Amino acid sequence: MQKYVIKGNICYSKTSKDLCIVENGYAVCENGRSAGVYETLPKCYEAFPQYDYTGKIVIPGLCDLHVHAPQYPFRGLGMDLELIDWLNTHTFKEEAKYADIEYARRSYTIFANDLLYSATTRACIFGTIHPQATALLMDELEQSGIKAYIGKVNMDRNCPTSLCEQSPEQAFAETEQWIADTSGYKNVKPILTPRFIPTCSDALMEKLSLLQKKYNLPVQSHLSENLGEIQWVSELCPDTAFYGEAYAKYGMFGGSCPTVMAHCVYSKEAEIALMKAQNVFIAHCPESNTNLASGIAPVRTFLDLGICTGLGSDIAAGSSLSIFKAMAMAIQCSKLRWRLVDQSLEPLCIEEAFYLATKGGGAFWGKAGSFEKDYEFDAVVLDDQSLPHPQALSVRERLERLLYLAQDSHIIAKFAGGKNLFERAG
Ligand code: GUN
Ligand code: FE
Repeated sequence: MQKYVIKGNICYSKTSKDLCIVENGYAVCENGRSAGVYETLPKCYEAFPQYDYTGKIVIPGLCDLHVHAPQYPFRGLGMDLELIDWLNTHTFKEEAKYADIEYARRSYTIFANDLLYSATTRACIFGTIHPQATALLMDELEQSGIKAYIGKVNMDRNCPTSLCEQSPEQAFAETEQWIADTSGYKNVKPILTPRFIPTCSDALMEKLSLLQKKYNLPVQSHLSENLGEIQWVSELCPDTAFYGEAYAKYGMFGGSCPTVMAHCVYSKEAEIALMKAQNVFIAHCPESNTNLASGIAPVRTFLDLGICTGLGSDIAAGSSLSIFKAMAMAIQCSKLRWRLVDQSLEPLCIEEAFYLATKGGGAFWGKAGSFEKDYEFDAVVLDDQSLPHPQALSVRERLERLLYLAQDSHIIAKFAGGKNLFERAG
């Protein structure tokens, strides 16, 4: 099963510093994993079926480490507010609609279809507080073949009654039932999802911490995104020295609990040091941080310190599901930060942005996001012939251009965990 060879211009990262490019090379998939990339196909793989994408660009699938599926319908709308006002004015109203399973079905069908035909093969996804709607989202994505962690959101304060858990006990019971109902999937897995500290009481965090330990689940949430939010957390949690401690004190900040925190725009030294020590993943979401005027995260610092970092679309604070767009914006934002904030932190380069979108984020699944041997075989084939050019371009230049110009229409095939999710004529 799942033995084949993809022929094409194979591009992937081993480190954040360099791009490996094998022109007219071969990426071999065996039992869902990479058996390596070759300039000439070794004899032992000659009998494998071949996908011939000669001249096309083949990259690992992209990873979206932070996206809110229920917010997809209002992407591109209501961008004129900062985080807390944006949540209260637009976001909670939209998320409340997912109590209606028919609305959820209509919305999640669109989301799952668009994600399938994007370059994303792996994602960490927020649902809403509603277990039924979240299970439906998991059904949709399971069928698409995309590999995803999906969370029923937990929240019980500072939110409308319609989005508020009735009690910590009831939240525990409902979340436990949702875990039992959704743990049997192959492609998608449950992830505990306390929305963020302002909407999660201590009692709720206690209960989630029990579930985390009992079922050994990963956790996703938000951290140090906006200055007003950080001030609010310091008032809500006077016993903590920094925001991250409000998760850490419940054992939900890395270590034995794999954790992704979105944003970390304003994380200070102690918070960054704890993330590093505990292997907490950071989802850098440059479009969201720009739209909500949150700020610019110090990604250069994260990379220099070797902190696990990937990219997130953060729909709908980010308007686009495209992780190509996230790569371009990560570079652009890092340049503005360098120019306007701190000239000691060099802007990101193409190699680094590509690494963040692939191997950086993919590490949350273990060996994913690269074509190195034994990595889960996720691949996206790009046909850029609709972007004509009079001059000669190297493969690296063509890839560089795609970071800025790629559309879903350029994607002609996609594979996740070795499975072909779709193929279409170039
Ligand atoms: N913090 C808490 N909830 C959210 C959300 O839905 N989006 C963003 N960007 N930040 C949040
Ligand atoms: Fe978010």
